[in-house]
Amino acid sequence: MTSRFSSERIMEFWTEQALAHGQEAGASWSDVRVMEMEVREIAKRLGHGMRVLDVGCANGFSTLQLARSTGINVRGIDYIPEMIEAARLNLAESKDIPQAQVEFDVGNILSLAEADQSFDAVVVIRVVINLENWQRQQQGLLECARVLRPGGLLLLSEATLQGLSRLNALRREWGLDDIPMPPFNFYLDEPKVAAHLEGSLELVEIVNFASTYFAATRVIKPLLAKLAGDFVNPADPLMEFNRWMSTAPAWGDYGTQKLLVFRKR
Ligand SMILES: C[S@@+](CC[C@H](N)C(=O)[O-])C[C@H]1O[C@@H](n2cnc3c(N)ncnc32)[C@H](O)[C@@H]1O
Repeated sequence: MTSRFSSERIMEFWTEQALAHGQEAGASWSDVRVMEMEVREIAKRLGHGMRVLDVGCANGFSTLQLARSTGINVRGIDYIPEMIEAARLNLAESKDIPQAQVEFDVGNILSLAEADQSFDAVVVIRVVINLENWQRQQQGLLECARVLRPGGLLLLSEATLQGLSRLNALRREWGLDDIPMPPFNFYLDEPKVAAHLEGSLELVEIVNFASTYFAATRVIKPLLAKLAGDFVNPADPLMEFNRWMSTAPAWGDYGTQKLLVFRKR
């Protein structure tokens, strides 16, 4: 089993990502197609003028796409100062977005500086999985719940143990090895998250928005690559095949990445 990163090592990892990728989407993840799908799925649940907190926004790639496509007023926070510097540069270069609509600041999900009930929605994209144990994850989730107004939405796009296990079951059937959880991540247990938030948030739905994409790119693509030969790298997320599959409707329950939608009671 891969040894897990400590919280210090996870923070170092994100600083390295910020320094290596600057203003590019790759600071957050190489699989830009899933990032685009996440934004599309989350945008459906946001409306013009809503006050939104984007927790763990990295260099603002998704934050700015959400602001552009929905007209929300959004505050993005991240605990890596270099990510926030890059996010501010990305905002300044986004001439199509009213600058007053977006702000970026350094902040930690474990202890948010924002006031109780001050947002209509809180967006959290692949952040809670970076907290090094369930205790920290619980703390971060409760902080997000605290800053939501009653009726407000928590839009949590995270990798889950259930999603990874379904994907690996499909891979095994076709002779492919299991995909391990990255050493800097601790995937969420869906029922545990719902039970933990039950007192303050109602689980509205779990959307397996990337199921087809994960099955296609993590099962069908490696099998096709074996046929095609060495010149195909199945892990290359920028291939046309990935772009095509990211436009397909979501079938099945093979997505590692899911959107958990909660409403504040
Ligand atoms: C996978 S990236 C996701 C970025 C962004 N949400 C997106 O949609 O592209 C995870 C981000 O969470 C940030 N992060 C990790 N732990 C955090 C914490 N305790 N508080 C705030 N941000 C954190 C990292 O610095 C990194 O930028």
